Amino acid sequence: MKNKNSIVQAAVVGLGWPGMQHLKGYTVDARTAVIAVCDLDADRGKEVAKEHNIPYVYSDHREMLENNEIDAVSVCLPNFLHAPIAIDALNAGKHVLCEKPPAKSAEEAKEMADTAEKNGKTLMYALVQRFGGSSQVLKQMVQDGELGDVYFGKAGYVRRRGIPIGKGGWFVDKDRSGGGALIDIGVHALDCVWWLMGSPKPVQVMGAAYSHFAHHVPKDVKYDVDDATFAHILFENGATVVLESTWALNLPGGNYIRIAGTKAGATLNPFTLYTEEDGKEVDKELQAPSIDSFDEEVKHFVESIVNGTDPISSGHQGVMLMQMLDGIYKSSEEGRSIKITDL
Ligand SMILES: NC(=O)c1ccc[n+]([C@@H]2O[C@H](COP(=O)([O-])OP(=O)(O)OC[C@H]3O[C@@H](n4cnc5c(N)ncnc54)[C@H](O)[C@@H]3O)[C@@H](O)[C@H]2O)c1
Repeated sequence: MKNKNSIVQAAVVGLGWPGMQHLKGYTVDARTAVIAVCDLDADRGKEVAKEHNIPYVYSDHREMLENNEIDAVSVCLPNFLHAPIAIDALNAGKHVLCEKPPAKSAEEAKEMADTAEKNGKTLMYALVQRFGGSSQVLKQMVQDGELGDVYFGKAGYVRRRGIPIGKGGWFVDKDRSGGGALIDIGVHALDCVWWLMGSPKPVQVMGAAYSHFAHHVPKDVKYDVDDATFAHILFENGATVVLESTWALNLPGGNYIRIAGTKAGATLNPFTLYTEEDGKEVDKELQAPSIDSFDEEVKHFVESIVNGTDPISSGHQGVMLMQMLDGIYKSSEEGRSIKITDL
């Protein structure tokens, strides 16, 4: 797959499901080629390299980072490795596309953003829900003022049953994941609704995290994370977000994003605008192009590198996102609302 004419030569580290989505995204973008893959599991690395005709294979990311032909690295690793390996890559002069959540904490995310800035490299977070067709259309409508001032958002990523374990149980071990349902899937819903609302600065959060489904995880797996978290976030511009995120809940599952402004409101699923015409309530079905959100995400990363522009899901945004998550967990632990400035 090596192509000497590629503008951006990429490497993917971590070859689970998301790693393969990144690999596919680079493959469909004519300006890029994946020239290296890296996985701790050497057989997995060899298998993927063979299947996709990739010349360099590594099982140690430090060796991979010595390869000067690599311009950009997709970090698709368990959460506890996002900060250290993204930082190593940035310090080695590579651009980084890092999977969600940005890190285990805002402190780590800040170090990542600072390292990117120090090295003059692009750091983008793979917050894939921003790159869906309907998200992109709705974002443009908000920017064009069609909803007026957006002051309320409600988002949910709700699974009735669906606790991930990951290789070696890292998803459900707080030391390695940073948390459970909130940091794993709540982050998608929160990020998307927050971005649609213009990414206002969070000021205060209130959250409650629950863990009632340990019996759904094998007994020998350490389980010390939330399987349901609910939160309320206030922003500097007066806007509010209500968030629901669950890996397990005794209610039907589903994903939703709803935003409301002074002129109109909208939901992503179904993709509908809720407005008023001549004093009457009107619901309008909206249309969105059918696009592959992972391909769009990689394309945006490549464009940010090529054009030298900030990606929409930047290192700085990753810090604010992690501040909200840190605040929600702290609020739950301490049983009080948390000001972001007190974190
Ligand atoms: N965007 C999405 O929709 C989405 C979906 C699933 C997971 N994710 C995120 O992607 C990341 C990875 O999740 P996953 O489901 O692939 O996890 P996983 O445990 O299934 O796979 C991780 C892979 O990384 C490899 N690995 C672990 N440590 C390594 C190291 N030090 N060097 C090289 N390779 C190493 C493992 O061998 C494994 O192949 C997580 O941050 C997760 O939150 C995102």
